[in-house]
Amino acid sequence: MSAPKCMLLTGASRGIGHATVKLFQSQGWNVYTVSRQPFAEQCPWPAGRESHIQADLTDLGGVAELADELRRRLPDGCLHALVNNAGISPKGPGGKRLGMLDTDAATWLQVLSVNLVSTALLTRALFAELVAARGSVVNVTSIAGTRVHPFAGPAYACSKAALAALTREMAHELGPHGVRVNAIAPGEIDTSILSPGTAEIVERDIPLRRLGRPSEVADTIYFLCSEAAAYTNGAEIHINGGQHV
Ligand SMILES: NC(=O)c1ccc[n+]([C@@H]2O[C@H](COP(=O)([O-])OP(=O)(O)OC[C@H]3O[C@@H](n4cnc5c(N)ncnc54)[C@H](OP(=O)(O)O)[C@@H]3O)[C@@H](O)[C@H]2O)c1
Repeated sequence: MSAPKCMLLTGASRGIGHATVKLFQSQGWNVYTVSRQPFAEQCPWPAGRESHIQADLTDLGGVAELADELRRRLPDGCLHALVNNAGISPKGPGGKRLGMLDTDAATWLQVLSVNLVSTALLTRALFAELVAARGSVVNVTSIAGTRVHPFAGPAYACSKAALAALTREMAHELGPHGVRVNAIAPGEIDTSILSPGTAEIVERDIPLRRLGRPSEVADTIYFLCSEAAAYTNGAEIHINGGQHV
């Protein structure tokens, strides 16, 4: 019997990441997770505690250490999937949209570190393991990367637009090594990142007239990491009920 496939997923403790872990686990994958919090008891998946690595992706200097820790745990040096999902969308007082005029340098750097630069550094640090598995990388962008969004501010939007560009660059650079890189761009998915007022967007802007479910995003991530997507490289898939049209 062949060894189970291995995935590293950042931002697993809630929302889209949590649903993705559950799906991959149910399909027999070994899932390693990263987030700032220690393993949470409300995330009951098998071997969850042993496969969790506590790390803050704002700390770019710590990414190499995180990769070393994963390397120690991988059974055969093969990483079949890396899902760069951790993301932050800072808000102003009372959950207000943080406009450009209200965004200070520290906030810009924090958002760009977590949402963009950590993805490049983590993928670079795990390149050999991805090549060994002919693995798949999935970056989680956002509808806010391509249009002004009523709640996500410019630092978030710029980080996601740049992450889409990084996805193209990575697909171009890693493809010759047998590693595919794609992005998914969610719209309004029912998680804690949403702001009050999202209900209006649903009625006005989303043809399917409902929020997306985290499990529906997980399904697309799973597709991108499967043989069914063997020739898909450099794509950015909208998961938004038609909000982009
Ligand atoms: N929900 C949506 O509608 C939507 C729409 C478009 C795009 N997205 C994108 O989808 C991804 C997941 O979103 P979500 O809605 O599931 O978000 P969420 O519920 O807020 O979860 C974010 C995850 O990222 C982790 N995280 C945050 N900062 C981190 C850091 N500095 N270092 C390590 N881990 C960190 C969090 O864990 P800890 O707090 O334990 O660190 C958590 O597991 C994000 O990239 C987001 O931008 C979401």
